[in-house]
Amino acid sequence: LLALILWGLVGYLFGSIPFGIVITRVFGLGDLRQIGSGNIGTTNVLRTGSKPAAAATLILDGGKGAIAVLVARWLAAEDAAQLAGLMAFLGHCFPIWLKFKGGKGVATFLGLMLALAWPVGVACCLTWLVTALVSRISSLSALVAAASSTFWILILGYSPVFILGIAVTLLVFWRHSENISRLRAGIEPKIGQK
Ligand code: G3P
Repeated sequence: LLALILWGLVGYLFGSIPFGIVITRVFGLGDLRQIGSGNIGTTNVLRTGSKPAAAATLILDGGKGAIAVLVARWLAAEDAAQLAGLMAFLGHCFPIWLKFKGGKGVATFLGLMLALAWPVGVACCLTWLVTALVSRISSLSALVAAASSTFWILILGYSPVFILGIAVTLLVFWRHSENISRLRAGIEPKIGQK
């Protein structure tokens, strides 16, 4: 049990690094929380107008979820890997460094899925992409991708991550409650819009 708690902590610490804020600072683009939606994720970094900064944020926020899983799997076992992934996701959403006011977890969710069950991760990324191409709305794409994960987990035969998939999907929806209100009101901005 102590080992599991340790892996949870390691995952949380990985996840809690707010790369969006770090990257926008490093690129000299100001304080991300004063820009657009104020969120710390890739979509909001894109609102600074810098595609390289957005790409770096996506890779690093996704990467921290994947690394947390891979390190725990490598040094411990599969249950530790799942816990580390979940805790990385929670670390991103509730980072201690930002008084627990973090992001919405989409990139980290995709990263941890790619590491835990890569075909499911790929299917979720493609679902995000297709929805984004059709709707041009990032939050909608995230919600559809998250909701689709359960379907992909079952279809592709990765039932060991089923509970984790459900948990992360519910958390993604919860973190997007403001986006969902805007979507219902028809006022959610398209990708790249300020
Ligand atoms: O990944 C976050 C995205 O789904 C929504 O971001 O900044 O438009 O609230 P934002």
